[in-house]
Amino acid sequence: MKRYFDVDGGKFLIRFTIFVFSFFLFHPLIILAETSETVVTGGLSKQDINRGKRFFMGLLPFERNHESCVSCHYINAPDTLNWNPSAMDIALKFAGKDTAAFRQVVMEPSGRVMTASHVNFDISNEDLHTIKVYLDHLAVTGPGMQKPSINRLLLFLLLGVLITWALLDLIFFKKVKYKFIPVLIFIGAFGYQLSMLYEEAVKLGRSQYYQPDQPIKFSHKVHATDNQIDCMYCHHTAPESKTANIPSTELCMNCHIVVREGTHSGRFEIDKLVQAHDEGRSVEWVRIHHLPDHVFFSHAQHVGVGKLDCAQCHGEVEQMHIVRQVNDLSMGWCLECHRETQVDFVDNDYYKTFEALHKELASGKKDSIVAADIGANDCAKCHY
Ligand code: HEC
Ligand code: HEC
Ligand code: HEC
Ligand code: HEC
Ligand code: HEC
Ligand code: HEC
Repeated sequence: MKRYFDVDGGKFLIRFTIFVFSFFLFHPLIILAETSETVVTGGLSKQDINRGKRFFMGLLPFERNHESCVSCHYINAPDTLNWNPSAMDIALKFAGKDTAAFRQVVMEPSGRVMTASHVNFDISNEDLHTIKVYLDHLAVTGPGMQKPSINRLLLFLLLGVLITWALLDLIFFKKVKYKFIPVLIFIGAFGYQLSMLYEEAVKLGRSQYYQPDQPIKFSHKVHATDNQIDCMYCHHTAPESKTANIPSTELCMNCHIVVREGTHSGRFEIDKLVQAHDEGRSVEWVRIHHLPDHVFFSHAQHVGVGKLDCAQCHGEVEQMHIVRQVNDLSMGWCLECHRETQVDFVDNDYYKTFEALHKELASGKKDSIVAADIGANDCAKCHY
């Protein structure tokens, strides 16, 4: 310690260190304080909101014959598919409606799925009112930050503290006898931080395994497998145009004018579709596959000319309840397939003009033609 004070600017460094440390120490408290503060809206009392929330979470009343609302209506999205409407879904749907309308829907369920779920409900008017108050509040504030991201942030900051400490000790304090200890800590913590940053960066750019939630729980498995609807019924532009279109609500309504209840989700999800259709709105599907703007890709070229199957690029979509991107859509992925995939060169009118290749094939110089041979791996084919 003595040596340290001899260094010029030593006092400043000590203050600086204390500042940095206390910032990291108190930071979690600041975050906690921010999240626990509740915004009270539209004259709703904080007490009612909390009571309603506790009822929804199954903490009240102590004796009841029914499951808690949250056991079916999740507040924070679960990792696995849950077909029930989320708390947020319900909150938004009933945000503009009064408690009487809410009560009627909850206590006098319609439809097969809801009748089987809302059983033994014995809830007083007051309790139901507080639930409604809680949901109205939720509709405004949203479900809030999820824990894992806070934990990751904290871990990142903690590593920062370790790095700062190791550096300070190496350069100034020199208190630890064995130098390799702070060095190891520095390398370990810094390396881990870098890997965390790398993970985030990759997530931002490429999105293999990207599987976002959609505004309506539309399932390819239910439609393409259970009900044997052909991909082309909905994505009918794929063979002749650049894009495979996403169907409009009109197309959905061809069937859902009649089919109003689903085996898994009951009436709630199909109701969203019907409502969007009645209001002339389109459904805002979240786009999953997305190439950068500098790349040209055409479905017509691959599905129409190349006669490829959707599954070769998109995997077994017909088995997915929620669509997931299975390939990384990287340049290497495109080039590799072009090098490996043979094309039906002789019987495809598209290749009539490739006379040189036809000659090589006839003379036995080549025994097959792959996509790369017809120029699919020329830079200009994919980049303007
Ligand atoms: C056992 C599971 C289960 C429990 C417990 C449950 N629900 Fe539901 N609830 C469902 C399902 C499933 C649906 C959707 C069914 C449908 O739309 O056909 C639903 C639908 C709803 C809807 C929307 C109805 C509509 O037509 O828009 C509301 C509101 C609702 N629940 C409120 C509650 C409240 C409040 C509680 C707690 C008191 C609760 N639920 C407890 C399963 C449950
Ligand atoms: C009943 C209509 C329907 C049928 C049949 C259907 N789809 Fe879809 N498809 C959709 C809708 C709606 C979306 C957008 C919502 C989503 O991503 O789930 C979609 C999305 C997709 C996407 C993701 C698009 C993106 O955002 O990147 C792929 C890939 C896809 N479908 C492939 C297929 C394949 C392959 C089949 C046949 C096995 C098929 N679809 C059958 C309606 C349909
Ligand atoms: C050669 C690989 C390949 C094949 C085969 C393929 N797709 Fe795609 N698909 C892609 C790529 C790459 C994208 C992203 C395109 C973009 O971002 O411009 C995509 C995007 C989509 C989309 C989102 C909308 C769009 O067009 O950008 C849908 C829907 C889709 N594909 C459905 C299908 C269906 C249905 C089939 C089968 C008929 C099919 N795809 C066959 C590679 C393929
Ligand atoms: C060719 C007919 C057809 C078309 C087109 C169609 N559906 Fe369906 N859909 C069905 C059938 C059949 C069911 C299954 C009903 C059941 O579970 O008994 C269903 C079920 C559903 C369900 C509930 C799933 C469950 O099991 O709970 C939703 C949500 C849905 N469809 C949304 C859509 C959307 C959105 C579109 C348009 C992109 C669409 N459907 C287009 C026939 C169709
Ligand atoms: C599953 C295999 C496969 C994948 C993956 C694939 N392609 Fe292809 N591609 C082919 C085949 C086969 C052909 C030749 C058939 C044809 O002419 O359409 C082709 C042809 C092409 C052509 C036309 C070349 C010409 O002569 O006009 C372009 C452009 C192209 N692909 C771009 C892409 C891009 C961009 C990607 C990646 C995002 C990609 N492809 C991924 C199989 C694939
Ligand atoms: C078959 C289609 C295809 C061909 C041929 C092709 N590229 Fe690409 N290229 C892509 C795709 C797809 C991406 C986007 C990759 C991503 O997002 O990770 C890309 C990205 C790039 C990038 C941006 C780098 C990056 O990581 O985003 C450069 C630079 C590039 N290509 C250069 C070339 C050059 C030079 C050639 C010729 C030798 C070439 N490409 C041929 C499909 C192709």
